Formats: sequence, structure tokens, C-alpha cells
Amino acid sequence: MPSLGVNIDHVATLRQVRYRETPDNPNAEPDPVAAALVAEMAGAVGITAHLREDRRHIQDRDIFLLREKISTKLNLEIGVSEDILRIALQIRPEDVCLVPENRREVTTEGGLDCVAQHKTLRSAICRLHDVGARVSLFIDAEEGQIQAAGSLGADFIEIHTGSYANKFGAERASELEKLRRGAALALSLGLRVNAGHGLNYENTKPILSLPGLEELNIGHSIISRSLTVGLENAVREMVHLIATG
Ligand code: PXP
Repeated sequence: MPSLGVNIDHVATLRQVRYRETPDNPNAEPDPVAAALVAEMAGAVGITAHLREDRRHIQDRDIFLLREKISTKLNLEIGVSEDILRIALQIRPEDVCLVPENRREVTTEGGLDCVAQHKTLRSAICRLHDVGARVSLFIDAEEGQIQAAGSLGADFIEIHTGSYANKFGAERASELEKLRRGAALALSLGLRVNAGHGLNYENTKPILSLPGLEELNIGHSIISRSLTVGLENAVREMVHLIATG
């Protein structure tokens, strides 16, 4: 059965809206670290956080505190820039998910280009492996990208489910088929398979049929639902949905 990693970036987004200019204000809230602890208590097997170059949501302080306080595992999402990579090497998270990063995007758009960035990714993967982190590559379910990911020595791919989530009806069914083929190919190459982006309480169930799926990383929908039912319930509901398929 796949497990749930909860992405807590959106908690930090809310804090930053008000406290970006005064990060040391004792009133600064909500705290993504406190949210992570609630998510763990409610059944998350890991906490995902994206330290972006522009620090628009998660701050360095959050990452260091998460590393210290959480008891499951930290999945640190990062772009492959030297400054951020150095922080990851210092933090030594259990998992690092490499993602493409573009300052103008609202959220991560599209997957990594493992073909064009082969050399940069290879070096980042080796350096992260040297500090004991497992590395995942966030990619679209494209054959060429999956083949390239296989040749890079990554441990996992995280299949980008964004286009599946944003299509409906027959178009969504065809995206799902593409994700299934991608997951099967990844497995045949010895890669392990996670998935995420745009998943919610309505569209997650069919994703559970991806072959070999180990972990789903979900943020926006869980944090949104937490506004009405509370974070603990929102996480429990998603854990239950995944468990009962
Ligand atoms: N996985 C990756 C690699 C992401 O970049 C994101 C968004 O930060 C997610 C999962 C979670 O996406 P969402 O917030 O849409 O659930």
C-alpha cells in the first residue's frame, strides 16, 4: 500500500504573507514545523518541504527545525542550484527530491529535463548519495525522461501527476494510462516510484493503481481541507482514502 508524505509548504506560505518582513516577530504564524508534527501524528510517513531559491515559503530555519523535530522522515525538495544543494548536504535529509525551479512559477511546473541536465543531475545525485540521502527525480511520465532517470543512478522517480489532475473525463483517463506506462517502465529500469502534484480527495484513488507506487506527496489539497476540518482530520482522511483505495 502506498504511503502519504505531507507537503507543508503551504503552511509557510500563509505565514510569509504576513510576516515576510518581520520573520523574528514572536507572533509569526502558522508554524510549518508544528503542522508537520500534527501530520505525523495523523499518519503521514514523511514530511515534504521545498526550500526554494527565492525563499517564498519555507525558510532555512524551518528546514533545520524540521530535521531536528520530526520523527518520520524529511523529504527535502530542491532545485539543483549550488547554494541550495549545499544546504541539503548539510541537513542530510533521508530523501531529496530534485525538481525544476523557475522563479516566476506559482508552483513547480513540469518535470526535470533529465536529458538536458544529465551532467548537473548526475553530480548532484552522487554528492547527495555521499551524505546518505536517497534521491528522487521529479519527472513527467515521458519515456525519454524515465530512461534518462534510470541511467542517472537515482533511487526514485516522483511522477508528476499535475497534468492528470488538471484534466477531466476521457482526457484524464488517457493521462492515467500514460502514468501507468511510465511507472511500469521505471520499475523495469530498477527505479522506485513515487507520485505527486495536484492530487486531492477526488482524484487520488485512480493513482493508487500505478504499478509499484510507494509514496504520494500531497500538499495543497490537504492544507486547504484543514481549514474546514482541521489538519489532523484532513491528513487522517487522506491516509484512510489511500488505505482503502
Ligand atoms: N511533489 C512535488 C515534487 C512538488 O513540487 C509538489 C508541490 O510543491 C508536490 C509534490 C505537492 O503538490 P500539491 O501541493 O499540488 O499537492
